[in-house]
Amino acid sequence: MTVKNLPKKFLIGSLCLIALVAAAGIFLSPHFLWAYLLILPLFFMGIVDITQKNQAIRRTHPLLGRLRYVAENLRPAVQQYFVESDLSGKPFSRRKRSLIYQRAKKAQETVPFGTQLDVYETGYEWMVHSIYAHDPKNLVQDPRIKVGGVDCKQPYNLSIYNISAMSFGSLSPNAVMAMNKGAMKGGFAQNTGEGGVSPYHLQGGDLIWQVGTGYFGCRAKDGNFDPERFAKTVAHPNIKMVELKLSQGAKPGHGGILPAAKNTPEIAAIRGVEPGTDVLSPPYHKAFNSPEGMMMLIKQMRELSGGKPVGFKLCIGSEREFFDLCKAMIKTGIKPDFITIDGGEGGTGAAPVEFSDSIGMPLRDGLSFAIDTLRGFNLKKEIVVIAAGKISCGFDLVRIIAMGADACYCARAMMMAVGCIQALECHTNKCPTGVATQDKQLMKGLDVNDKAERVYNFHNKTVHALVEMLAASGLKSPSELHRKHIFRRISMSVVKRYDQLYPDMPEGCLLDTDIISELYKQEILGEF
Ligand SMILES: Cc1cc2nc3c(=O)[nH]c(=O)nc-3n(C[C@H](O)[C@H](O)[C@H](O)COP(=O)(O)O)c2cc1C
Repeated sequence: MTVKNLPKKFLIGSLCLIALVAAAGIFLSPHFLWAYLLILPLFFMGIVDITQKNQAIRRTHPLLGRLRYVAENLRPAVQQYFVESDLSGKPFSRRKRSLIYQRAKKAQETVPFGTQLDVYETGYEWMVHSIYAHDPKNLVQDPRIKVGGVDCKQPYNLSIYNISAMSFGSLSPNAVMAMNKGAMKGGFAQNTGEGGVSPYHLQGGDLIWQVGTGYFGCRAKDGNFDPERFAKTVAHPNIKMVELKLSQGAKPGHGGILPAAKNTPEIAAIRGVEPGTDVLSPPYHKAFNSPEGMMMLIKQMRELSGGKPVGFKLCIGSEREFFDLCKAMIKTGIKPDFITIDGGEGGTGAAPVEFSDSIGMPLRDGLSFAIDTLRGFNLKKEIVVIAAGKISCGFDLVRIIAMGADACYCARAMMMAVGCIQALECHTNKCPTGVATQDKQLMKGLDVNDKAERVYNFHNKTVHALVEMLAASGLKSPSELHRKHIFRRISMSVVKRYDQLYPDMPEGCLLDTDIISELYKQEILGEF
């Protein structure tokens, strides 16, 4: 870059200003020379702008071009605090976020003056109530579901609402500890995420150990599943269930890599890998390559764990592949104790935008399909279904349980309960609230005991909201919820119940091949 190429206006203007200040300092008063404190740094910043090559706008508009980047950085905060309406924030609206914060803080959570929702808008949904409502005090306040089939020696009494998979690494140690302590106080479970069981998870709360394609905590040197290591880890009494992860809604079919630089001795010890090396989590499992092989692994895990419930998590992709899993359960006689269905709307610490936006069946579609298929193969009675995907209030629970789920998970709402403000910085290690970062300075602000109380409150009040809704509908237990209890507006003048939109599959009907082909002919089951 030669002086000739520098934008002339900036150079001439700056030099004139420097000369003017020098003249004023010499002829009028030396006090004018103080102006150099401002002018010279700005001049040098301008020179830096002109000589750098990364940002064209700074090169052609020195100093002024910087304002664009300042505005860009301020945009999310301005949008969140000054522009977004109560109902418009994404992925969680301000209204949803406020409700989570109010419940976590035990603050007033009632609203004045009626709903702000447009009840005539397409997609508006509501629950059927009854003139024979119950007193909510007479219902079980902490509904639970037993997980563990006949092959399970240590069944687990799972809360209806639990903390979904989020690894230490994507969450800070303080956030993980706060969640675990909250779970302990509330008697619900925390899923470790695929990063393995860390010391921060061991605060006394119940754990669901997630095993992903990286097999962290049970990984052999060659990256495969190591039965001995698995048996050692799973023996911890806080681990109540094991979840084999096939995929998650925010990035199904996408593997990951833990770069050598981030593979610290602490992380390496937790994950059971060599510190300072690149560690691969492939997009597929190495321990099996067929549905039957997967069932064998589930059986092996259950045996190695001394009979703890073992299930798997997936976001529905190909309907046929889910069919194949069900057929393998029947063929091998090995059934998972639970299946977790995650929705395409699910969250993550970081994912490619195409994967988050455009891969993975949304929860309500995936869940209804999975429930129907399990019923069709006569498997639902033996398998608990857990659902995840933006389930953050009583109505979300009601709707998903009515659809057929037995219990629910929540991830991002729990992050909010420990202080997340939806700053959307999880992938930068700069989370301002210390929830999704490993920066020690940032995580200092998150007080573990205070936030554990909030996790407990949020769970407790959300489950209470579910119980109140059940009572208002004349129901006594979540198991009485059915698709007929939820209505959806299809257009201004058309309203349908969920059982009309998602007709129940008759139990066992898919065991009859004639019925299967008839259902496909009618396109009830989609492409096969
Ligand atoms: C920070 C973060 C980390 C996550 N890590 C995992 C993970 O390790 N394994 C997994 O199966 N899902 C992971 N998830 C997905 C959640 O467990 C959950 O399935 C999804 O976010 C939907 O729940 P939500 O809408 O309540 O957030 C993660 C989500 C978030 C926000």
